[in-house]
Amino acid sequence: MQIAKLPEDVQSFIRTGVTITSISQCVVELVLNSLDAGASRVGVRIDLSKYELQVVDDGYGLNLEQLNLIGNRYMTSKCNTLADLQGNLKYYGYRGEAIASIKQVCDSLIIISKPKGENVTYSKVLKPNEDGNYKAVEAKLDRPGHGTTVVVINVFSNFPVRQKQLQHSLEIEQVKNELQTIALIQPQVKCLFSL
Ligand SMILES: Nc1ncnc2c1ncn2[C@@H]1O[C@H](COP(=O)(O)OP(=O)(O)O)[C@@H](O)[C@H]1O
Ligand SMILES: [Mg+2]
Repeated sequence: MQIAKLPEDVQSFIRTGVTITSISQCVVELVLNSLDAGASRVGVRIDLSKYELQVVDDGYGLNLEQLNLIGNRYMTSKCNTLADLQGNLKYYGYRGEAIASIKQVCDSLIIISKPKGENVTYSKVLKPNEDGNYKAVEAKLDRPGHGTTVVVINVFSNFPVRQKQLQHSLEIEQVKNELQTIALIQPQVKCLFSL
């Protein structure tokens, strides 16, 4: 038997299978990204009939260069050195894995962002098993204010059993619980949840 290293996309797929296992986990990762981006308002919308999730924030957003970079594993703006991980953690995120992992478990992940201080809205679509070298483009629809919207289309589409086994009311309850916990820790942030 030959021993060989798994190709990177397979490594990523397998690891992802372990990383994002529930709707609430997916929502929490996106909301924590919004908090890391300094958001004071975060809106979460879930349509489980279409397996669609949306998180909208009024954080500082992503400029064209930043948006072009994200989507691949280990792409993060929050950690550069080991020292960043020791003691002085300023952010919830540090691994640069959530966006790349969520990308692997849905049909597509759409990021729309208007960076603070700019009057342009950018967007980018990420798809599973494709690297993040997609070009971000100027969005046709302008966001009214700065911030970021992340839309997850058909979550768990490539895990049909997991998708079928989702108990919708239980998933919604879990999301509510997680959001309540976040709201308690960050009382200055307004968190809106709608179905
Ligand atoms: N809502 C958001 N607003 C601004 N930047 C974001 C947002 N979500 C993600 N990002 C950017 O994408 C990068 C990757 O996010 P993620 O995969 O969750 O990794 P991490 O949070 O560990 O850095 C972040 O470091 C940040 O620069
Ligand atoms: Mg994150």
